Amino acid sequence: MIIGVPKEVKIGETRVSMTPSLCRRVTSLGGKVLLEKSAGISAGFVDAQYKAAGATIVPSASKVWKSADVILKVKEPLKEEYSLIQQGQTIFTYLHLAAGPELAKELCRKSVLGIAYETVEGSDGSFPLLKPMSQIAGRLSIQIGAYRLQSQLGGSGVLLGGIPGTMPGHVVVIGAGNSGAHAVQMAAGMGARVTVLDLDTRKLEALDTEYRGRIVTLMSNPANIEHEVADADLLIGAVLIPAAKAPIVVSEKVVKSMRPGSVIVDIAIDQGGCVETIRPTSHEKPTYKEHDVIHYAVPNMPALVGRTSALGLTQATEPFVAMMVQKGVERALNEHKGLAKGVNTRNGRIVYGAVSQALGFES
Ligand SMILES: NC(=O)c1ccc[n+]([C@@H]2O[C@H](COP(=O)([O-])OP(=O)(O)OC[C@H]3O[C@@H](n4cnc5c(N)ncnc54)[C@H](O)[C@@H]3O)[C@@H](O)[C@H]2O)c1
Repeated sequence: MIIGVPKEVKIGETRVSMTPSLCRRVTSLGGKVLLEKSAGISAGFVDAQYKAAGATIVPSASKVWKSADVILKVKEPLKEEYSLIQQGQTIFTYLHLAAGPELAKELCRKSVLGIAYETVEGSDGSFPLLKPMSQIAGRLSIQIGAYRLQSQLGGSGVLLGGIPGTMPGHVVVIGAGNSGAHAVQMAAGMGARVTVLDLDTRKLEALDTEYRGRIVTLMSNPANIEHEVADADLLIGAVLIPAAKAPIVVSEKVVKSMRPGSVIVDIAIDQGGCVETIRPTSHEKPTYKEHDVIHYAVPNMPALVGRTSALGLTQATEPFVAMMVQKGVERALNEHKGLAKGVNTRNGRIVYGAVSQALGFES
């Protein structure tokens, strides 16, 4: 089996879907790796390391796409990559199709077997390939928010930890899952006042037990959201309904109620965002102001820390990649129910219920 690793093309992307260590695992199992020249450079991995691990380095993305049985990527294929996708190819990557109707159509048109990292399931129903990137985005959201609150950047000038004798900043986190819990950890560590809201009482109970009264946990409902967000210096959107478009939990009216120079970091932007006034931004221009509130909505936040992200991502993908190389893709899908849950497109159709519902496609 040939695993193809193209260089990521999304603006500001620094991650790579294969480290030299994963490459060595694949080649030791009898797989072949075709890697686009310099694909790992932004994450600190040079071609010589891949060569030593058994990869063949090729000069262009088209050479990778043309010959690979399985394309291993980080981000979903972008428009400029559509023409490279081969009929019937397998693509294993983050797809986020609920927020990408054009890509969904393209994958169906090319009969791509699209296996989305974000819907692969663990035996406990968790999402092991979403987890490391969510943890990174959650942790980053606080350092990004803290930075954007700085006066020189148009922020309100609030220091999240405050100092003795002053009120610390108030961080409100909506969603207490992987990204939300890690945002809470960073915010609490900085000494901020932290409120976290979720619909799942078990998640709130776990955080309440962990932080023993140092943070406030609240049921997510419109009244609590209105009350807390109006007082937030930094709002973190971290909700997820698996594979579906993110629900809007913060209305424009609630955004208007925030203090000038407050900051919103909507991590859930890759699923459309959970704040009514949010729209995707990029690493080139990560923020905009609306109603005097700074909005940050970069869909590939982990690219800010390419090395940690590449290591975190590949340690999660490695067992699945190894399984595909050892057994072949179809047998791996037949034998591993969790991996099979990753299949979003097959034979020209969307086959993941929540995605087809979100897109209004027939499944
Ligand atoms: N922007 C980025 O770079 C980036 C990086 C990684 C992950 N993400 C995205 O972040 C989002 C969150 O991912 P996660 O891994 O933390 O998900 P998760 O499943 O671990 O957690 C989501 C939480 O949202 C809660 N939730 C659902 N509806 C809610 C509501 N109405 N109010 C409050 N809580 C609600 C769920 O109960 C759950 O606890 C996803 O969209 C994911 O794709 C974005």
